[in-house]
Amino acid sequence: MADSIDKVRADLEAVSLDTDEQIETFRIKYLGRKKGVITDLFAGIRDVEGPERGAYGQRVNELKRRAEERIDEAKRRGASAATVDRPDVTLPGRPFPVGSLHPITQTAEEIRRVFARLGYSVAEGPEIEDDFHNFTALNFPADHPARDMQDTLFLEPPPPQGSGVLLRTHTSPVQIRVMESSRPPYRVIVPGRVYRNEAISYKSYCLFHQVEGLCIDEGVTMADLKETLRVFAREMFGSDVVMRFRPSFFPFTEPSAEVDILWKDDSGNGGRWLEILGCGMVDPNVLDAVDVDPERYTGFAFGMGIERIAMLRHGIDDIRLLYENDVRFLAQF
Ligand code: PHE
Repeated sequence: MADSIDKVRADLEAVSLDTDEQIETFRIKYLGRKKGVITDLFAGIRDVEGPERGAYGQRVNELKRRAEERIDEAKRRGASAATVDRPDVTLPGRPFPVGSLHPITQTAEEIRRVFARLGYSVAEGPEIEDDFHNFTALNFPADHPARDMQDTLFLEPPPPQGSGVLLRTHTSPVQIRVMESSRPPYRVIVPGRVYRNEAISYKSYCLFHQVEGLCIDEGVTMADLKETLRVFAREMFGSDVVMRFRPSFFPFTEPSAEVDILWKDDSGNGGRWLEILGCGMVDPNVLDAVDVDPERYTGFAFGMGIERIAMLRHGIDDIRLLYENDVRFLAQF
C-alpha cells in the first residue's frame, strides 16, 4: 500500500500541466469521483488493518492536497499568461478625433446667446417664401427698384405672370409671419438661410445666413435700437469695439441705418469700417399690413449676415471656404 502511494505521488509530480485540457485530464485521473486514482486510495482505507490505518489515511490525504495544489498552481499560471493578450486598462486612453461645430453655427449660437440675455426668443420661417411675405408686406412697392436690390431666385415667375414663389432673399419675411401669428409685444430673433442670385466671389455666395431681430412694444424708440445694437457689438466683438450708425434705406424701416464696426488690421492706418448689419424703426406701413396699430406700437428691426461676422471674428478672407466643407479648414474652429 505504502509503495503505491509513493508511486502515485511520483507520477502525479511528473505530469505537465500547461493547458486547460491537461489540467482537466489530471483532475479526472487523480480526483475523479469514479475511478480517480486518489479516490480509489481513499476507498482502500477500510482495507487497512489496525494501527496502520491512521497513518495511511493521513498520507492519502496529503496526496489529495498535493494534487489539488498542482491544479491550483497550473490554473494560476494559465490565468496570468492569458493577461498578456488582455488590454491594459491602466493605459491612458487613445485620443479619438472629435468634430466641431461649423463656424457659421458657432457664430449663430453666440448671437442667439447675446439676444437671449436681452429677452429675445427664437422664431423661424420657411426658406421658400411668397411674394407677399418677402416683399409686399415689407412695403416693397410693386415694380419698385428695391425689389432688384436683392437679386431674387424665383421658383415661379414674379407677378403678374406667376405667383412669384421664391427663395427668401432675407429673413425679414419672418417679421411678417411672427406678427401675423401673434399679438404684440414682440421680441424675437430669427436665424436662417437666405438666397440671392449673385455672382459668386470671395465676398458673396448664392446662399448665406442672417439673423433677423424684431422688437415691438409701446414706446420703443430709436434710442432702444441703438443701445440694443451697442450691447450686442460689445458682447460680440469686445468692450472696446468702435461702431457707427450710417443712414441707409430699406423699404420696411424708417428711418433706416447700417452699422459699421471699425476693424483694426495690421496696416497701421487705423483700420477699416466694415458693415455688419442693417436696421431701422419698423415702417408704419409694415405694421398696417399685419394689423398691428402703428399709433399704439412702435419698434425696431435689424438684420445681420452671420458669415460676415464669422469672417471678421476668425479672419476668414473668402466666404467660399465656409461652404467647401474641407476638414483642414473646419478643424481649426
Ligand atoms: N433685410 C435686410 C437685408 O437683408 C436687413 C434689414 C433687416 C434691414 C431688418 C433693416 C431691418 O439687407
